[in-house]
Amino acid sequence: MARGKPTILVGITGGIGAYKSCELVRLLQKRGFRVKVVMTEAATRFVTPLTFRTLTGEPVAVSLWADEPESKVHHISLAEEADVMAIVPCTANVMAKLAQGRADDMLTTTALATEAPLVIAPAMNTHMWRKETTRRNVEVLRARGAVFVEPGTGELACGDVGEGRLADVRIIANAIETEALRSRDLVGVHVLVTAGGTQEPIDPVRFIGNHSSGKTGFAIAEEAARRGARVSLITGPVSLPDPFNCEVVRVQTALQMRAAVLARFDTTDVVVMSAAVADFRPAAMSADKIKKGDAPEAIELERNPDILAELGERGSGVLLVGFAAETNEVVTNAQAKLEAKRVDLIVANDVSDPSMGFGTEHNKVYYVTADGVDETPVLGKRTIARDLLDRVAALLQSRKG
Ligand code: C5P
Repeated sequence: MARGKPTILVGITGGIGAYKSCELVRLLQKRGFRVKVVMTEAATRFVTPLTFRTLTGEPVAVSLWADEPESKVHHISLAEEADVMAIVPCTANVMAKLAQGRADDMLTTTALATEAPLVIAPAMNTHMWRKETTRRNVEVLRARGAVFVEPGTGELACGDVGEGRLADVRIIANAIETEALRSRDLVGVHVLVTAGGTQEPIDPVRFIGNHSSGKTGFAIAEEAARRGARVSLITGPVSLPDPFNCEVVRVQTALQMRAAVLARFDTTDVVVMSAAVADFRPAAMSADKIKKGDAPEAIELERNPDILAELGERGSGVLLVGFAAETNEVVTNAQAKLEAKRVDLIVANDVSDPSMGFGTEHNKVYYVTADGVDETPVLGKRTIARDLLDRVAALLQSRKG
């Protein structure tokens, strides 16, 4: 991640709207950003790299092979330098490549390598924009967190009139600026995230558990780290890889999760308890695997400590976010939890619908605070992570102010 002036990497692809990117580069510079440009070969047919080199005072990357050698692999250094990557204009072809994860030129390779948020401003003929394949690519990229600046309607270069015109460059610049601010709004903040479900052992091979996949918590941890936070992710057993730039602590039981949370609580500014912590554990764990013939008639259970409620009781000033998975009276139950556990924000969702929530990629949530309730549409878990952290950043800001 770049330091100093935020760096916007503008990727330009081969469409007539490429000439408008000159204006966009200027606008971004006026707003205080450092701008670097990467172009596809096709884009250079519309505007020359020299134009952008002159505007930005920076080398323009076009080929994976022909550019001057730099100290680091060029597409990787570009990818790392970017606070935001914006592809303006983005053709249907490049969008399809991005959706598939192809990396066959400098621009798409850099886009695949970067951890920076991606802003995409498509521009193409109306029929191409409306084609089902294009619509699907937009949805795939959106689900991965890309921000789209939708094309406008009007006369197109091909003579058709309809949607497909590159959006107004000021609107594109605004979207880029929003992402750039977001990319640093948690610098200096220590965020502790819990994820996944806990497993409470019955014997060495059996446990009481739940269906939590950990996806939401991992997405929150990853997004918080991307925005500059120091992140500790405490997770129950899940089959997800460690997110980048996070301290990851893998635990099994609620008691282990509690210990890992408390060990870090003193340095923490925000706790997001997205873990599905088991409320009960077997009172005693059998040291050996219980044989079929020896099956007990009942398993005696003991209450697990409520980690979140315990943090709330401390009244420490740490911003506390809880989750509530409900099957009925979603908002009423969440409001009760908000008060009982003394937390600042509850993210509530309805788990009675099998197409959402546990294990799926999507969810519809209610944000419940003392000030009221906000309901979202069905969103991807990455979008929920972003939206939630926007709220966390705003709450932290309002506390400072
Ligand atoms: O009461 P309920 O389990 O629905 O509350 C859910 C919220 O409380 C979640 O944020 C969850 O991570 C947290 N929790 C906890 N310790 C428990 C049970 C739930 O911190 N033992």
